[in-house]
Amino acid sequence: MSSCGRWAVLDVYEAVTSRRAVRGFTDRPVPGKVLERVLSAAAWAPSGSNIQPWHAYVLTGAPLAEVKKRAGERLAVGDAWDEPEYEMYPPALKPPYCERRAAFGEQRYGALGIPREDLEARQRAASANWDCFGAPAALFCYIDRDMGPAQWADVGMYLQSVMVLLRAEGLHSCPQMAWAKFHRTVAEVVSPPDGLLLFCGMSIGFEDDTVDLGRAERAPLDETVTFIDGYLSE
Ligand SMILES: Cc1cc2nc3c(=O)[nH]c(=O)nc-3n(C[C@H](O)[C@H](O)[C@H](O)COP(=O)(O)O)c2cc1C
Repeated sequence: MSSCGRWAVLDVYEAVTSRRAVRGFTDRPVPGKVLERVLSAAAWAPSGSNIQPWHAYVLTGAPLAEVKKRAGERLAVGDAWDEPEYEMYPPALKPPYCERRAAFGEQRYGALGIPREDLEARQRAASANWDCFGAPAALFCYIDRDMGPAQWADVGMYLQSVMVLLRAEGLHSCPQMAWAKFHRTVAEVVSPPDGLLLFCGMSIGFEDDTVDLGRAERAPLDETVTFIDGYLSE
């Protein structure tokens, strides 16, 4: 790694495969110039007709502390979540997705020693979302309310670009739909223009490597990819 914390050379495969949802960060600050560099490069993400439908707000220091404080206050008094402005999952998630989702829950909460039936403990663990898992920086990503599925996909490509570039800087991240359940709290601090809705937050920082929560597996390649190219079977 270079003195500014940026890896001199980082293989793209390594950047992609070492990205994971990190849920434990140190309080080491993330330099503003690094965030600027990452977001300038991520702007090269593709989008249909190049409309670039993402609106990112990057918070550090006092403004982020304020968001976390307000969210923490709401949690402390048992305030109901905000209704997310989009459906996070289809109401009846069918196989294989429901099975993958259950496996994720087992892995995520099992790593914390929380049994499946202890919903309260799961909820307590999940509440770390609204402290950004201790991260000193966060990005809140908005999209225009009237955008359709293709533009949401554009935003996903943008966010993945951000997360992979963060790896190139030695940083980690966690994308968080959980913040959509506190969108009013985020809006109180970032004041987004009318018409935008909060898709997700993203915690950003240096990993606290004393926190090892394991890794979410992936489905075997032949479950999600079908090769029809004749060359591959020759
Ligand atoms: C759009 C999106 C929203 C997510 N929301 C949350 C969240 O609110 N909280 C959380 O801890 N992880 C969240 N995640 C992380 C996923 O759980 C994680 O990406 C998935 O389990 C795969 O694990 P990996 O990213 O570590 O490989 C989200 C991921 C995506 C792409």
